[in-house]
Amino acid sequence: MHLHPAAQRDLESKGIYAETTVGVPELDVFVDQGLITRVHAQLTSGKEGTVYCCRAHPSTRRRYLAAKVYRQHAEGTHKRDPTYFEGRERELKARTIRAIQAGSAFGRAVANGLWVGAEYDNLRRLAVAGASTPAPIALQGRAILMEFIGNGAGPAPHLHGVKLDREAAESLYEQVMCDIARMLRRHLVHGDLSPYNILVWEGEARIIDVPQVVDARFNRAAPELLRRDVENVCSFFAQHGVTVDPSGVTDELWRRYQRAEL
Ligand SMILES: Nc1ncnc2c1ncn2[C@@H]1O[C@H](COP(=O)(O)OP(=O)(O)OP(=O)(O)O)[C@@H](O)[C@H]1O
Ligand SMILES: [Mg+2]
Repeated sequence: MHLHPAAQRDLESKGIYAETTVGVPELDVFVDQGLITRVHAQLTSGKEGTVYCCRAHPSTRRRYLAAKVYRQHAEGTHKRDPTYFEGRERELKARTIRAIQAGSAFGRAVANGLWVGAEYDNLRRLAVAGASTPAPIALQGRAILMEFIGNGAGPAPHLHGVKLDREAAESLYEQVMCDIARMLRRHLVHGDLSPYNILVWEGEARIIDVPQVVDARFNRAAPELLRRDVENVCSFFAQHGVTVDPSGVTDELWRRYQRAEL
């Protein structure tokens, strides 16, 4: 990771990547699959795992990709709260059995008790829903490879830390609410939305961190999770002059969802 670029290139030309993937076997696999060439920087080491910015292989037509590597036992976080898990349980049973029988990556991940499979699956569903979440690229063991939001100098800042004038705040508020509606249209509720899980890049709000996303058809807590998401978003924007009634917004969203009017 800290090699001189010439030494790095020399190693890469010999097909040796050991120094370049920080000893995470999943990242070696992404290298072997021709998706990334090396780790560019470690971004964070959070409760769930570590996120790396990787140099993308040119064939991906991207400069960077983000790799989120889950801890071996990513348990004990608030995302393991029964609110999320109970809700998913019913949904997951039939799907999990099918996925495990089919031997899909998702099935293997769930069978291993890993949260990572749920996040990758959610990223795919969210992409289909047209949400602003990072495009999923690949799943391998404990690691997800996805679109990197940011550039070589670093990841996009969190909404929380961005300096906003009223106009920018209004635009971002609209975008986030639009995203919430788009997700809900496909039955999906983020469930952990906050200014820390929204990045701002080139004037656009990008929602991240989706392992706990719930399906409103199967999770009775969905309306309450939606309410909390909307409240978190509204209370942030209220500090920037965008005043709305979160409760009214949630009720309206839910009403439109139930009438299939979203
Ligand atoms: N696709 C991405 N592009 C750019 N940066 C990203 C991406 N995904 C994650 N990050 C960065 O990594 C951080 C942690 O990612 P994420 O929120 O998904 O993981 P987490 O383990 O749930 O962390 P936390 O518990 O801190 O929320 C994000 O706050 C963001 O700064
Ligand atoms: Mg997060």
